[in-house]
Amino acid sequence: MSLNRVLVVPSILSADFTALGDELRAVEEAGADMIHVDVMDGHFVPNLTMGPFIVKAVRGATSLPIDAHLMVTNPEDLVDDFVDAGADYVVFHAEACPDPRALIDRIHARGAKAGLAVNPPNSSSLIDEHLADIDLALIMTVNPGFAGQSFMSEVMPKLSQVARRKASLGLDLLVEVDGGIGPANVGTVIENGGEAVVAASAIFGGGDAGEGVRGLRAAIDKALAVG
Ligand code: DX5
Ligand code: ZN
Repeated sequence: MSLNRVLVVPSILSADFTALGDELRAVEEAGADMIHVDVMDGHFVPNLTMGPFIVKAVRGATSLPIDAHLMVTNPEDLVDDFVDAGADYVVFHAEACPDPRALIDRIHARGAKAGLAVNPPNSSSLIDEHLADIDLALIMTVNPGFAGQSFMSEVMPKLSQVARRKASLGLDLLVEVDGGIGPANVGTVIENGGEAVVAASAIFGGGDAGEGVRGLRAAIDKALAVG
């Protein structure tokens, strides 16, 4: 599958929160395409992170689109707050919402884009029937909860299945991939149809977030040139 452009999406989970504005400026200047905010509730995943207040702060500090990744139970209780805070994409887990249609409609009615995420052990059948209705499919390549985990290459068949389904149905949908991605494995993600790559450690882990974006972009460009 060959693409013209793959989006670089820094996750602020590994950013320096004492200097969040500087971190956001650095990734924006280095050519990042979107900002990923990892929202964890301590129930759906064993970690507690950020809420709408952070999305609002990010909104005020960057002109890039914001992708709010809700790793929460009962996402229906929270989506409005994230739209109001300025999220462009509100992404929730299929595992947390057995009947996502109403929530997808509600996010759209509030003027935001809707995304559905699926965890590594679970089949794409959880999201397949909704692909025509959503704006973003988020394929997790780690079990969510923490930055810095190892990329699970066994998810690649599922990624390529979703990407092929998108192409064959001609859907207007962004296929995003999240977890353990860096310059060494982004080529595999692209080969299997990833269109937007989320990275926390690979971008913010080295101390210079701009350098992190440029390193990932260079690996993407190389993979696209080969593919
Ligand atoms: C995982 C989060 C990811 C995470 C990625 O629970 O959803 O977005 O921040 O971090 P890295 O890139 O370090 O795997
Ligand atoms: Zn995420």
